[in-house]
Amino acid sequence: MRYEPIHNLKIPKIGFGTWTIGGHHTADPTSDERSLSALHSALEMGYTHFDTAEIYASGHAEELLARAILESGIARESLFITSKVSPQHLNYEDVLCSCENSLKRLGMDYLDLYLIHWPKVGMKLEETFRGLNKLVQDGKVRHLGVSNFNLKLLKKSAALSETPLLTNQVSYSIPDRTYEKNGVLEYCQQHDILITAYSPVKRRNIKSNPIIKSIAQSRGISLQQVALAWLTTQPRVIAIPTSFNPQHQAENLQAADIVLSQEEMDQL
Ligand SMILES: NC(=O)c1ccc[n+]([C@@H]2O[C@H](COP(=O)([O-])OP(=O)(O)OC[C@H]3O[C@@H](n4cnc5c(N)ncnc54)[C@H](OP(=O)(O)O)[C@@H]3O)[C@@H](O)[C@H]2O)c1
Repeated sequence: MRYEPIHNLKIPKIGFGTWTIGGHHTADPTSDERSLSALHSALEMGYTHFDTAEIYASGHAEELLARAILESGIARESLFITSKVSPQHLNYEDVLCSCENSLKRLGMDYLDLYLIHWPKVGMKLEETFRGLNKLVQDGKVRHLGVSNFNLKLLKKSAALSETPLLTNQVSYSIPDRTYEKNGVLEYCQQHDILITAYSPVKRRNIKSNPIIKSIAQSRGISLQQVALAWLTTQPRVIAIPTSFNPQHQAENLQAADIVLSQEEMDQL
């Protein structure tokens, strides 16, 4: 596994997303067995960064992640756990309360990384960061970040965070260059902020892209591995694909070790 070294940390180039673990927007206990099985295989094969959120299955994704970690016997300290506060909980008291609830569901006494999940029109970012900074001071959260933030909001967040802002988690993939075009990627690379790429393999057009196909064929790897390697070859970029299929999970994890050539990167 290759890591991204940043602020005295080593973050795995590939982490595991938990959206749809335990349900979609509401908890669906009928999917627990399938979700736990996906989490167990991910833990056993060596994923250490898990990305979750209070909104995923209304907190049930966090509960199942806690259960799978406990059952695996893997030490908490060897994992890197990210969770997120929802846009409706961005005032000071709610930020503290949301984090406390996530910690309870996760059965943990700290989060490695806590993100604002989405910006909200009219939010008072100063107040939200007062809450986030307090969580860091109290040892409940080790690092802070944001998600889906444009350049203006990202710069404001970096100024308000008392610890170096660790990431902006955004949709980023070969077919989706929104955050490359809007200047966020370049700003992050210049200011030591990670881009955590979500939905890195989801889009159907990965399968129809002839350049992805030809690189996959010549290297003997899958289309999704090309899509992930394109991300992880870039400085300051990590990715958090999700999969219920152990074979896909393994493929995705192995993609962290594939470094594309400059020529391949230019073609893509
Ligand atoms: N911050 C945000 O606003 C935000 C938004 C969206 C997502 N996220 C985070 O990012 C994570 C990943 O994003 P995502 O779930 O939208 O998309 P994704 O991980 O790019 O795509 C998941 C889909 O791709 C399939 N897949 C994964 N690996 C594959 C492989 N090697 N070969 C073939 N198919 C493969 C999965 O099916 P199988 O199960 O069959 O493999 C699943 O249908 C989420 O779980 C969540 O943690 C964050």
